[in-house]
Amino acid sequence: MTKRIGILTGGGDCPGLNAVIRGVVKGAVLKRGWEVVGIEDGFDGLLAPEKCRLLSLEDVRGILPRGGTILGTTNRGNPFSYPVVKNGKTEFIDISAQVVANLGQLGIDALIVVGGDGSLKIALELVNKGVNIVAVPKTIDNDLMETDVTFGYNTALETATDALDKLHTTAESHHRVMILEVMGRYAGWIALESGIAGGADIILIPEIPYDIKQICSAVENRRQKGRHFSIVVAAEGAYPLAGSRVVQAAASETHSLERLGGIGEHVAREITGCLDMDVRVTVLGHLQRGGSPSTFDRCLGSRFGIKAIELVEEEGFGKMVCLKGGEIGAVPIEKAVMAQKLVDPAGEMVRCAEELGITFGR
Ligand code: F6P
Repeated sequence: MTKRIGILTGGGDCPGLNAVIRGVVKGAVLKRGWEVVGIEDGFDGLLAPEKCRLLSLEDVRGILPRGGTILGTTNRGNPFSYPVVKNGKTEFIDISAQVVANLGQLGIDALIVVGGDGSLKIALELVNKGVNIVAVPKTIDNDLMETDVTFGYNTALETATDALDKLHTTAESHHRVMILEVMGRYAGWIALESGIAGGADIILIPEIPYDIKQICSAVENRRQKGRHFSIVVAAEGAYPLAGSRVVQAAASETHSLERLGGIGEHVAREITGCLDMDVRVTVLGHLQRGGSPSTFDRCLGSRFGIKAIELVEEEGFGKMVCLKGGEIGAVPIEKAVMAQKLVDPAGEMVRCAEELGITFGR
């Protein structure tokens, strides 16, 4: 009997999503003769039949180098806490039973959920309601457990490193402190690896709260040695020892996560307060999520897509595809969402950075 697979992308977009979708469609159609239903805008698409369409090989032709997701996505739309307006007031209700019923009506035998921790937690709840789900980990933040790396991260790193290379020239010419604020939510991976690759002098990450005195003395030491500029990479989740994270918008019922941003400007003010130097801030923002995926992310996304189809074939439901030691494998979804994968402040990569002369402000 022909199998029918559904696929949706949830959470923030990220380079490599289209490689996964293409991998899933090719793996399903070419080798197995199965059908794939593309569901638009994350779990929301399962509430509206017009948002579900069959994906043919033609639909995925030429999408490998494209950023974003041809299916659309949202980082709201949780069917277990879905906003409905009643008498002018927004209430949050559980409509997951409707989602399960709609999957049945669409004739979907198994659902592939491509997402970060938020989408995977929803996927896990649906697994517990009996839905056949295989998950594919996605995030530029690289903060998911049980996989060495998520696709999208490598492209984001390339963008951040390229920005650092560009900022270096102005920093050096104008004798300035240049601060680059990067994404990463509560994990410092993007800041740490791009900082090492881009030759940063100071890296600020959420896992190591910083002391501004240490940062200022690092900048001053460089100045005394004739290096009249410094490059700082600040992860958006970084914060001072005696302070808290800089938040743009608090979490709410519709946005389960607070929106971070502004640490770059905060550090700039602190440095200006203790040193007589010109300081400038660049917030890299969503440039890190956009653009064509790197070779690594196209390849990883394709491998994840094919593995997801293999898992469906062997009925390995409730699992997430992963990369471990260079090998593609699978782990239970619950293990991946149990905690966040954070930078180890005593780990090899931080030690390496410190031996390279980089300061974390501790
Ligand atoms: O999780 C990916 C990410 O880009 C984070 O690095 C960032 O904090 C967040 O999403 C931004 O979300 P939004 O696009 O909703 O502003």
